[in-house]
Amino acid sequence: ASGDARAAKLSSMADTIDTLLHEDRVFPPSPEFVAKANISDPAIYESAAADPVGFWRGWAEQLDWFKPWDVIVEWELPYAKWFVGGQINACYNCVDRHVARGNGDRVAFIAEGEPGDVRHFTYGQVKDEVSRLGNALKSLGVAKGDRVAIYMPMGPELAFAMLACARIGAVHSVVFGGFSAESLAERINDQSAKLLITADGSWRGGKVIELKRIADEAMGIGCPSIERVLVYERIGDSSSEFDRGSVNDRDVFWSQVVPHQPSDCPCEPMESEDLLFILYTSGSTGKPKGIMHTTGGYLTGVYATTQWVFDIKPDDVYWCTADCGWVTGHSYVVYGPMANGATQVLYEGSPAAPGKDRFWRIIERHGVTILYTAPTAIRTFMQWGESYPSGCDLSSLRLLGSVGEPINPEAWMWYHRVIGGERCPIVDTWWQTETGAIMITPLPGLVATKPGSATKAFPGVQTLLLSESGELVDLSKDDREGHGGILALRAPWPSMLRGIWGDPERFHSTYWAKFPGYYFPGDGCKIDADGDHWLLGRVDDIMLVSGHNISTMEVESALVDHPAVAEAAVIGREHDVKGQCVAAFVILRGDHAIVPGSDEADQMIAELKSHVAGKIGALARPEDIFLSADLPKTRSGKIMRRLLRDIAEGRALGDVTTLADPNVVQNLRSQYEEKEG
Ligand code: WT7
Repeated sequence: ASGDARAAKLSSMADTIDTLLHEDRVFPPSPEFVAKANISDPAIYESAAADPVGFWRGWAEQLDWFKPWDVIVEWELPYAKWFVGGQINACYNCVDRHVARGNGDRVAFIAEGEPGDVRHFTYGQVKDEVSRLGNALKSLGVAKGDRVAIYMPMGPELAFAMLACARIGAVHSVVFGGFSAESLAERINDQSAKLLITADGSWRGGKVIELKRIADEAMGIGCPSIERVLVYERIGDSSSEFDRGSVNDRDVFWSQVVPHQPSDCPCEPMESEDLLFILYTSGSTGKPKGIMHTTGGYLTGVYATTQWVFDIKPDDVYWCTADCGWVTGHSYVVYGPMANGATQVLYEGSPAAPGKDRFWRIIERHGVTILYTAPTAIRTFMQWGESYPSGCDLSSLRLLGSVGEPINPEAWMWYHRVIGGERCPIVDTWWQTETGAIMITPLPGLVATKPGSATKAFPGVQTLLLSESGELVDLSKDDREGHGGILALRAPWPSMLRGIWGDPERFHSTYWAKFPGYYFPGDGCKIDADGDHWLLGRVDDIMLVSGHNISTMEVESALVDHPAVAEAAVIGREHDVKGQCVAAFVILRGDHAIVPGSDEADQMIAELKSHVAGKIGALARPEDIFLSADLPKTRSGKIMRRLLRDIAEGRALGDVTTLADPNVVQNLRSQYEEKEG
């Protein structure tokens, strides 16, 4: 985004700041929680700040290394190397070492499928499963350094697939099962993945999502690097509506190759800086960015944050509701909790199947003690009403977490009262695919929480605020009102991204060029008089739809790809449940001229919505599409997104005098008002 656009975004955040300024409720941790907390010594903040490198070394020393490192950190902006010369294996640290220490009988996964099937896997069983799968991958030609794409339902086999790659030194790249064939193919081709692991299908909302069919479609678009497709049989052939797709000699079924493999598969010693995974995230241009994470530093970051932020202990039953298709599932389902030997719940399907109390039934059934979920889910539950959670026994819960987008104080209070029974601390955790691990969060035995604030930087992490012109905001002065600005981080930290796959130039320009010397995450932030952080949303062209990053450009190009569309402008508009949703303004080509409001227009709008869902995935489907003869542009031809946002959110229009044609806005305005009725 240009400086202008950022300035406009920042000023529109002023309203949010105003509301949050009036938020003065404070919830200190209870003495009972503090007494048992993994960390409760406030001196940790100072000691970590005085020696961050030593702080992180202390955590790395708690992992099992095949060979110790020579140098803790080498930092040449923007490239960090951590634990250089050390050799380590992520799968060994998440699985084998627990077995080696006599904890092989501890339950790793309580896996509940949407139809209600429950399977338990101990760490010992996970070791065998992952080893057999590792051997199967080798037998299919996968070698150290090869990329493996994973397109699977949320369940233990998805975690096994990630861990099996890590075990043999292959690089995994999980693509969320809600993405379209085209999105899958784009990600596979960007990294030239050699193998695709998918499943016949996945249960969602009582229906089967036909993953294999979509994967076939992706292969049809063209994925020349893929040699074999390994298909896990989740659905089997019990379901009549289920379509396994066309089976050809590229396909191999899991049941044919995995169970017969030996359960002995050594963990490949990896250099600390060897690539562990690539995970794609949206950027300000249409093309997704392949974020690269390496082994030793990433594992150190997620191990440390899991232990302190989630206060995780051997007798906890932890449940992070994220799918492994997102970074939260990488860091806080697989690598962080498993490096800590946690027992966790995995759930495959929809929170509304078969009833709207599914989450609460799962908590009751398995005695979940720690729940980590997203504000959009919490707002959905608020809308459904309190009767669903209050009909279930949630007394096992002792800690709650939130991630993905700013949590509004109202949703925070509901979570606190209805789910947490007013006794559970809430950790609102700010981080990104790029940061690998949680960066801003309360430590639940140490930090008083405030509804809507992610509170403090994690020890060893340093945040900064920058003004629009890139100057450091002096946080020491005028501290009664607090300070607003653009968030920045002082690099390096161990779990930071190591780059964008195949695009060093973009790595530099996206994160390091705007404010030289600091990592630029793209978020607005306010720091109050207590030093607590209030995240205010993105200041760039990325929307947070149900907590998921979607770029406005990506949706615009999907729309323009439709034969009837001449031009499109996309913005994120506020939405009660999703936080933001996609709103699009579309100019049709001359030969498709349509009267706004007509049946024909409604049909076109429906068609465009499904076109976008088909191109990118259902999560990018626009909520609103406005057909227009023109878009509000400045005289120099730039689309005025601020005005579009005002229109879509029903606000009074600001200054329109710089518009090339002020009538354009009036036309759009009346369409909006008609829609609202
Ligand atoms: C963006 C990163 C972190 C895993 C899930 C999303 C927003 C994330 C919070 C929070 C306010 C948050 C930011 C960030 N975000 N967590 N607790 N409070 N905003 O990862 O897809 O890489 O998105 O999500 O805007 O930049 P992601």
